[in-house]
Amino acid sequence: MEIRKVLLTEDEMPRQWYNILADIKMNPPLGPDGKPVGPEMLTPIFPMNLIEQEVSSQRWIDIPEEVLGVYTIWRPSPLVRARSLEKALKTPARIYFKNESVSPPGSHKPNTAVPQAYYNKVFGTRKITTETGAGQWGSALSFACSQFGIECKVFMVRVSFDQKPYRKSMMEAWGGKCVASPSTETKAGRDVLEKYPDTPGSLGIAISEAVEAAVSDTTGKTKYSLGSVLNHVMLHQTIIGLEAKKQMEKIGEYPDIIIGCAGGGSNFAGLAFPFVLDKMNGKKIDIYPVEPSACPTMTRAPFVYDHGDNAGYTPLLAMHSLGHAFVPPPIHTGGLRYHGMAPTVSQLVSEGILEPRSVTQLAAFEAGIKVTRSEGLIPAPESNHAVACVIEEALKAKEEGKEKVILFNMSGHGLIDLGSYDKYLSGSLQNYELSDEELLEAEKIFENYPKPQLIKSR
Ligand SMILES: Cc1ncc(COP(=O)(O)O)c(C=O)c1O
Repeated sequence: MEIRKVLLTEDEMPRQWYNILADIKMNPPLGPDGKPVGPEMLTPIFPMNLIEQEVSSQRWIDIPEEVLGVYTIWRPSPLVRARSLEKALKTPARIYFKNESVSPPGSHKPNTAVPQAYYNKVFGTRKITTETGAGQWGSALSFACSQFGIECKVFMVRVSFDQKPYRKSMMEAWGGKCVASPSTETKAGRDVLEKYPDTPGSLGIAISEAVEAAVSDTTGKTKYSLGSVLNHVMLHQTIIGLEAKKQMEKIGEYPDIIIGCAGGGSNFAGLAFPFVLDKMNGKKIDIYPVEPSACPTMTRAPFVYDHGDNAGYTPLLAMHSLGHAFVPPPIHTGGLRYHGMAPTVSQLVSEGILEPRSVTQLAAFEAGIKVTRSEGLIPAPESNHAVACVIEEALKAKEEGKEKVILFNMSGHGLIDLGSYDKYLSGSLQNYELSDEELLEAEKIFENYPKPQLIKSR
């Protein structure tokens, strides 16, 4: 019988995360005065043990036993050879994916939600606030908080809240609380609602609300947690790529091409970063982060200093950004509707080590359905963006007659996204294209901002 899944035992699960900050050079985050911020500026928002990870340049960081214990609920995740998709495409390429949809909430997000809840517990945090786009992150954090006995409050982007009511039910099943953002509970939310009462919301707005809700608790026992973008989130997600590497080694394979969808960059980075180090050391690999063409951060927006949130509460981060006031069109991929991109991913894009791609909403769903009708799995709309790029590369390999090895991340399943599938299948889903004028208008916000330097890591 042909092998389809490559599995690791629990004993074979990696015991350390890989920290890319040991191997790349970065522009520092800046405070409101334009000077680099020290870790102390982050203490009202995050617990010190996570801040230490955020700024650490230690290459390998031990995964605590308690975190490994919760990881074993679903990890190690399978590496799957997409044989049926290969056959359907008649491609000589060998296509593999890490199936991160097998976690309880259905995505890669608990890989960082669990350690974040754990480090908060150790620090003495009683309640964590956060935002969620697709609802995957809010569910993951509610699940993780339930494992460690912490309260969880989620601000869910309005458009996704309306598209996916069952995500709220999931969060509540784990004991979390979920409100639509913008909400009337915070100043940031009220300000937006006053100006734009019918706004679909955005991740940037929801982040402002969650940060404000955390810092306004004067007991200091409420902290904020972010599901993507930050260095420590990328760090925790590297469990994906480290497992994948071991699994590929087991069958004597190594990827020529690595692909992941990118909203804030975390599932992509999780899969790709352990291989990026190989690429910097001379291996030939093509690495593609894939974003929606309706929110083209890496492919069309500049590398700038910008806030991570809409209200400007966060430090300025050096990243590809459409501007923190940008509200992306209401596409059905809530997790990819973010104006910025992880500084680590942005840095690697600016160095040409990663080569970003974009796909339209319709192309993404068309690709996702091909997976569903071959592999059986219904991917999250976010993951469909990666799949669209995989299919393009597999067809290119066919044209060129090359046996390329393609590795991608199935970041989540789409079982709570069936409303979007309904729309796609009934022909009522549409593409959104952004004009150059709209982008130039959005970029005006950076006129008086400091500019990051173009740095080469090697
Ligand atoms: C299934 C899934 N994939 C991808 C993403 C994008 O986030 P990131 O780029 O941080 O992986 C999300 C975010 O919500 C998601 O839910």
